[in-house]
Parts: sequence; structure tokens; C-alpha cells
Amino acid sequence: MNILEIKGLTKNFGGLAATSNVDINIPKNSITAVIGPNGAGKTTVFNMVTGVYKPTSGDILLNGEPITGLKPHAVTKKGIARTFQNIRLFESLTVMENVLIGMHSHLKSRFFSIICQLPGMKKEEKEAEIEAYELLKYVGLAKLLNETAGSLPYGAQRRLEIARALAARPKLLLLDEPAAGMNPKETKELTNLIRHMCDERNLTVVLIDHDMKLVMEISNHIVVLDHGEKIAEGNPVAIRSNPRVVEAYLGKGALAYA
Ligand SMILES: Nc1ncnc2c1ncn2[C@@H]1O[C@H](COP(=O)(O)OP(=O)(O)O)[C@@H](O)[C@H]1O
Ligand SMILES: [Mg+2]
Repeated sequence: MNILEIKGLTKNFGGLAATSNVDINIPKNSITAVIGPNGAGKTTVFNMVTGVYKPTSGDILLNGEPITGLKPHAVTKKGIARTFQNIRLFESLTVMENVLIGMHSHLKSRFFSIICQLPGMKKEEKEAEIEAYELLKYVGLAKLLNETAGSLPYGAQRRLEIARALAARPKLLLLDEPAAGMNPKETKELTNLIRHMCDERNLTVVLIDHDMKLVMEISNHIVVLDHGEKIAEGNPVAIRSNPRVVEAYLGKGALAYA
């Protein structure tokens, strides 16, 4: 059963085809990696799935239901959350507040009143704080809940983005270069975190990353894009020995993981 089906997805920016006729199927509860050189169209796919860009043509189905062209907040409500290649946090708000903001898609009260901690905080808001705290514990940031997001080290900011995305209670989580800027120890922790998330939260994860160790270790399914086109798809063993992929992207370094 596929949670996400992408069919013939094309996005033109002026004369440039950022993606051309891309088909991707994401099996439920899988971890799929989307890899390829810079400019291959990876982030553009995420942007179309999450409603940031409207596709020029093609279809996106979530659990069989078309979501093509929905606005980002509507896509979030359907159960898709994401993190960004260029970290997008409210830097001057606290770690806790950033997670609470991620929750507003499923809260009835306005997140504004939560952030302002208005007197007579409703039961729902108390519960939101408890849930946010649990998420921060989950990603290893509970001790830093009162720090401002902008003051955190890079790796911690990436984990905070994951907590914020999880706060929307997604079924499908899209991670855009989650290991970028992380040291090997942080990347290892991230690998474990992503695995646990899938198992314990019944999540499906799609991740874009250049760290081939992470990609080969964690994914059961890999999609390779180059110049906006899908050039290969398969399991890690098949992908790292695929001549076209080695030529377009992996190069000789791929042998290190063979
Ligand atoms: N908003 C945009 N306007 C114009 N061109 C864009 C825009 N977004 C992406 N592109 C172009 O589309 C191509 C694919 O970009 P992107 O999806 O960001 O690649 P990747 O994430 O694989 O590095 C690149 O040539 C990029 O410059
Ligand atoms: Mg990108």
C-alpha cells in the first residue's frame, strides 16, 4: 500500500524544467531517500507535495486521494509535515514555543493565545504544552525548552525542526537535508531518531540528504533525480551499483559503501 503516489510531476520555472514527468511511489511505513546532485529537483518535489508550489502538471495522491494544488495548511491537515533545507524556526521564540506553533494545525484555540500564555489557559493549551514537552524529550531537547531557538547549535536546530514537524501529528514526514551541517555523532543520533520515529509513531519518512552513509543505512527505498528527471529507483544495494547513478552522482566515493 502506497501512502504517497506522485504521477508525472512536472514543474517549469520559465524555461527551466525543475522536475520533468517524475513518478514516485512511497510505500506506507517505509523510509525513502531522494538523492541526486544539487539542482536535481529534489526540494522542488517536496515543495509541490507540501503545496508551496503548484505543479505545472501531474498528480499527487495521499492514500489514494488527490492533494495536488492544495494550500500548505490544507496539506498539513491531511497529514504531511516537513522540515526545510534552510532551517526555518522562529529564532527569537523559545524552543517550546516553536513546537507549540507546530501544533496549531490540530488545536482549536488560536496558537497566538498559547504563545502569549494568556491567563486562564485552557485545558487544551495545557495538554499542548505536555505534548510539546514529550516531543522535545523525544528529540533530546527537553533541557533546552526555554532557550531561544536561534541560540541553539546547528544540529539541535535541525532536531527542533523535526519536533515542530511532529507536533502537527503527521502520517508522512518529509525531511529536507536533515543531516546537513551535522557532525558524525549528531548524524548517528539522527539516524536512530528517524528509525524510532517510523517504528513508534507509525510514520512514513521521505528524506533528502547528501550523506550517503546515512542514506544507505537508513532507507529501504531510494529515488535518484538528475536534472529534474528520475534516473533510478530501488533498494540501497541496487542503487549503489547502478552505473547511471554512479556516473551522475555517487562517483567513485560510492565504492566506500559497496
Ligand atoms: N522558485 C524558483 N524559481 C526559479 N527556479 C527555481 C525555483 N526553485 C527551484 N528552482 C530551480 O529548479 C532547479 C531544482 O532546484 P531544487 O529543487 O532546489 O534542487 P535540489 O533540491 O535537488 O538541489 C534548480 O535549477 C533551481 O535553481
Ligand atoms: Mg534542495
